[in-house]
Amino acid sequence: MSDKQKQVKSKKRVADFGEVFTAEKEVRAMLDLVKIQSEQLQSRFLEPACGTGNFLVEILKRKLNTAITLSQINKSQKSPKYAQAIYEKNAIIALSSIYGIELLADNCAECRSRLFTLFKEHYQSYFKQINEQVLTTAHYLLNKNIVNGNALDLKDLTGNPIVFSEWTFISDIMIQRRDFIYEDLVEKTNNISPEETGFIAKNIKDYHPIHYLKLSEQENV
Ligand SMILES: C[S@@+](CC[C@H](N)C(=O)[O-])C[C@H]1O[C@@H](n2cnc3c(N)ncnc32)[C@H](O)[C@@H]1O
Repeated sequence: MSDKQKQVKSKKRVADFGEVFTAEKEVRAMLDLVKIQSEQLQSRFLEPACGTGNFLVEILKRKLNTAITLSQINKSQKSPKYAQAIYEKNAIIALSSIYGIELLADNCAECRSRLFTLFKEHYQSYFKQINEQVLTTAHYLLNKNIVNGNALDLKDLTGNPIVFSEWTFISDIMIQRRDFIYEDLVEKTNNISPEETGFIAKNIKDYHPIHYLKLSEQENV
């Protein structure tokens, strides 16, 4: 589908999966209700029935605009206008804080692909010489954060519990990954915020900090 999304793919899919996509205008209006958070690099968003990513794409657009604004060097300086290394890190923070769950494999693939294309085109529109490692990291993060799974039984398509990773920059270049079981994040809180219950989810795994451009090499370490 193009960026002007059709709202329905087929009647059968509407009946079987409740698949009706939200129009862009409504997406924007709803995200404007949390405008500040939607523009912040670090604010985390999870959409449990993300479809082809209509909400997540709009969130990433907003965050990437923040990423470039924050990498501005000096308004009076003609060239370069933006610090590339700062933008790259900001853009990865923006992407790494966006999560989704989608039951249907084709929607899940389309969601990842739309987010990746947006990320790449935004990057290329500001910098002539792009670093392929940044794109490799973005691709890796999307495969982790956009899960092909069931948001009702909280399992992925292989029947394993859905696991989400938290990505935290602990210095200019080093990132730390911590894995959490999704069920631990949602069920035990019973829709009450962790602050109210005093409950803080326990992570199941800590990884060694690693250069963010080498993140995709870390699997299973
Ligand atoms: C109403 S559509 C909304 C899609 C998207 N959020 C949007 O607004 O454009 C619901 C989506 O949830 C997916 N879905 C249905 N049941 C699901 C489940 N148990 N877990 C995860 N996704 C599910 C459908 O495949 C469909 O893409």
